[in-house]
Amino acid sequence: MEDIPKALREKSQPQKVSFSSPLLLVGGVFLSSLGVIALTFAFWPRPQQTETSVTPVPPPVPTVTPTPTPVEDNLLGHLSYEEAPPSDLIPITPDQQVKLRSAAAAKFLEMQADAASEGIILVPVSGFRSISEQEHLFFEVKAERGEVTTKRAEVSAPPGYSEHHTGYAIDIGDGKVPATHVKGDFAQTPAFKWLQANAARYSFELSFPENNPQGINYEPWHWRFVGDTHSLKTFYQARNLSNNE
Ligand code: DAL
Ligand code: ZN
Repeated sequence: MEDIPKALREKSQPQKVSFSSPLLLVGGVFLSSLGVIALTFAFWPRPQQTETSVTPVPPPVPTVTPTPTPVEDNLLGHLSYEEAPPSDLIPITPDQQVKLRSAAAAKFLEMQADAASEGIILVPVSGFRSISEQEHLFFEVKAERGEVTTKRAEVSAPPGYSEHHTGYAIDIGDGKVPATHVKGDFAQTPAFKWLQANAARYSFELSFPENNPQGINYEPWHWRFVGDTHSLKTFYQARNLSNNE
């Protein structure tokens, strides 16, 4: 060592490794690694963002609430009806026994007066009927006559299914031919012919014409009022057995 010049001796002396060098080394390696990772990531080939490579997002499926199909409450060809409110029932006979809803009552009395002026006597035989009155007509009369249910239903509605519950239906007779009241022969009376020609002017129509789609016997005496929105809806809304004749 002595024969090596001092300057060289100092140069060739291994550098004294300071305490911080291993840390610097590790840090450097770490930073270099980060750089390599960053470069790799930057230059790594990526899939082309084309229209075809974009996974389409399906549109939201709209929630569809199905419209319920009206199910007709039909019993032996008759449709269900609610009872008219008693507060809207008006008597149309002197004994006050026959009643109709107010709108129908007013039009019937007008029609009756006009018919009378032409010599035609329109007699109200039956108007509003409660469900309990219809119970008697359907079941008790059926039993008295010994009729089978389907035969009875051709001429009378089961309770809850009569147009008479609505207060818009009326059985009309000819005052000059009372023997034809509520009988098929009523179709031959002057009163029926007058009604056929004029009832529509007062918003009355035949409920059960011949061959009606409900399969009910022809009832030339049975007419119904369809002269306001409520009565029209009562007989025509959501009905798939409506009588359009
Ligand atoms: N007379 C008919 C059938 C009714 O009551 O509705
Ligand atoms: Zn009737």
